[in-house]
Amino acid sequence: SGTVFRSLFRNAAQIVTVCAHGETHKSGAAMDQVAIFENASLLVDQAGRIVYVGPLDTLEAQPWFLHDSTHVEFEIDCTGQSIVPGFVDGHTHPVFAGDRVHEFALKLAGATYLDIHKAGGGIGFTVQHTRAASDETLFADLQKRMDRMIKLGTTFAEAKSGYGLDTATEVKMLRVLTRHNKSHHALKLSITYLGGHSVPKDKTLAAYTQEIIDEQIPAIVRAVETGTVHVDNIDVFYEKGVFERAETEAVLRRGKELGWAINFHGDELHAMASGEVGAQLGARAISHLEEVQDRDMEMMAKNTIFATLLPTTAYVLRIAPPPARKLIDSGVPVALGSDFNPNAHCMSMPHVMNLSCVNMKMTMNEALVAATINAAASLHQEADRGSLEPGKFGDLVVIDNPDWRHIIYQMADPPIAAVYVQGTRV
Ligand code: NIG
Ligand code: FE
Repeated sequence: SGTVFRSLFRNAAQIVTVCAHGETHKSGAAMDQVAIFENASLLVDQAGRIVYVGPLDTLEAQPWFLHDSTHVEFEIDCTGQSIVPGFVDGHTHPVFAGDRVHEFALKLAGATYLDIHKAGGGIGFTVQHTRAASDETLFADLQKRMDRMIKLGTTFAEAKSGYGLDTATEVKMLRVLTRHNKSHHALKLSITYLGGHSVPKDKTLAAYTQEIIDEQIPAIVRAVETGTVHVDNIDVFYEKGVFERAETEAVLRRGKELGWAINFHGDELHAMASGEVGAQLGARAISHLEEVQDRDMEMMAKNTIFATLLPTTAYVLRIAPPPARKLIDSGVPVALGSDFNPNAHCMSMPHVMNLSCVNMKMTMNEALVAATINAAASLHQEADRGSLEPGKFGDLVVIDNPDWRHIIYQMADPPIAAVYVQGTRV
């Protein structure tokens, strides 16, 4: 018997805890500050929670630790290395069949996202393939993608449906995501229903919105009751010519009544007053925001609506990236996501942080905060994840360099030594 701990990380050159005093998220100038211990250690208990972070001698002087019968299952020597919290990816579309490499070629030749969308490609192409795929295929592909994602340091992610656009396929996608969360896979997901991702080509916006409210959502609620589906958030692609304001509000409001958090795509290609819509509905987060206006930034700051920025989208579409600097300076809490989907095929948060710094003028501290505590908070996960504080999960990335900033600086091939979830190596 005696006290048994799961893992002790010893002697890291830096442990970036990110938050110091139980902050729930960071905004404004605080985003540029991360708390760091130098030459430090971190202890995780058998439940996978952090019990200590700080100097090793202080830990070893604790009466509860010194005791003869104290055992540590894994001791990890981190000399010459640094540790940051596991990344939280705030926005992904990881369940889909087929790829769109042919559209990548079209875009390189000058086609725009909306050109391809209106010609039935884009989301429409992926919908066709995803409808035809079985649960088994979608599940196997999802698990392979999550294997790659976790190796790149992501220990929690948001994940959407939205390539069904009919009741059976939307429920199927949510079932696949829910099955993933019930599996042994260490990378767990915050699950989002995105039936309002696009209007199927054989339907009008009005008729499809009615279908979402009268058919899709009731079918999902039945699947939730039987336990085959779990939903955390509701999303709509709120965009000119896709989902307009009245329809967006109707769908988001229905989700909110069911207890789902509102986390929607807004202001991507056109300014749509998304901040105002989000404030009126009580949204938790708005993604994209390439075209966000000043007035909407103010409403987001005032209502603590997270801006989930996706620098891969602007990069692949060759459009101007969202105004991250202005959002941060206006007091909007900024989070990051990979937007992993067949259009922006990226599941690397280190790459996303690099793009955020180079293309969106964020500092490395701000990028790390946005990819950890703020992304966690955008998904209501801040009590368990996003920083390395006692009581939270021991989800972390060991970086093969004494200076943590190398995870952002060494683009394309980040120096990740190991990834741990709840103190266990993955
Ligand atoms: O976040 N903008 C809409 N949705 C996705 C793209 C999905 C797709 O093209 O398949 C996005 O970028
Ligand atoms: Fe998206």
